Amino acid sequence: MVIASNLKTNLTREKTISYLMDVENFLDEIKSNQDVYVFPAQSSLNPHHGKVTQGAQNAYATKNGAFTGEIGLEQLEEFDVKTILIGHSERRHILGETQEAIAQKFNFYKTQGFKIVYCVGEPLEVREEGEDVMMKYLELQYEGIDLDYENLIIAYEPVWAIGTGKTPTLEDISKIHLKLKEKSSAPLLYGGSVKVDTALDILKCDGVDGVLVGSGALKVENFCKMIQFAD
Ligand code: G3H
Repeated sequence: MVIASNLKTNLTREKTISYLMDVENFLDEIKSNQDVYVFPAQSSLNPHHGKVTQGAQNAYATKNGAFTGEIGLEQLEEFDVKTILIGHSERRHILGETQEAIAQKFNFYKTQGFKIVYCVGEPLEVREEGEDVMMKYLELQYEGIDLDYENLIIAYEPVWAIGTGKTPTLEDISKIHLKLKEKSSAPLLYGGSVKVDTALDILKCDGVDGVLVGSGALKVENFCKMIQFAD
């Protein structure tokens, strides 16, 4: 199973380092073999060696260059970061990243051999149009993406479930995951209001290979419990 924590724009550098250490200690204590990822805020990235994979929440499609305010892959590699999250709904909808821009990033990261955690998800109005419309919408988010890339993890995150406390039913999660799995054999995570109380049931759903958690993982003890559920 893949258990991932997206810290978004939360936690200071000091708190992030202590978060990572707590997770490492917990993994040692329970001798867990799960694949654990933590995506800190860019300014809190730090060289990290251990069982936890530290990933970046974003990067520009370049190694370096004149791109004010952006971070390139060369800067990420300084922190031993070789994993990037892209396509997250907050970047699509709040920061206006288009599918074309996301696909361009994807292909650049791929040429550099980075692992990619690629997010897809539909807004509520699309979901309300029914399953066919919804699946077509999700498929459009696969445009320009190599679904056979060996270093790919996909995360299905319904936009309306992110940070809202709402989740699809367990039956719906399974149904959508199994449909998405027809398109790619990459591990498929569920994200969107996963909490300690719901993680175990979600992890047991057919087609779910792990979870990508935001607010529910901000307290490290909650994230650790979710790792333990996966064991
Ligand atoms: O990347 C994580 C997702 O946006 C989920 O966030 O768990 O706060 O709903 P959330």
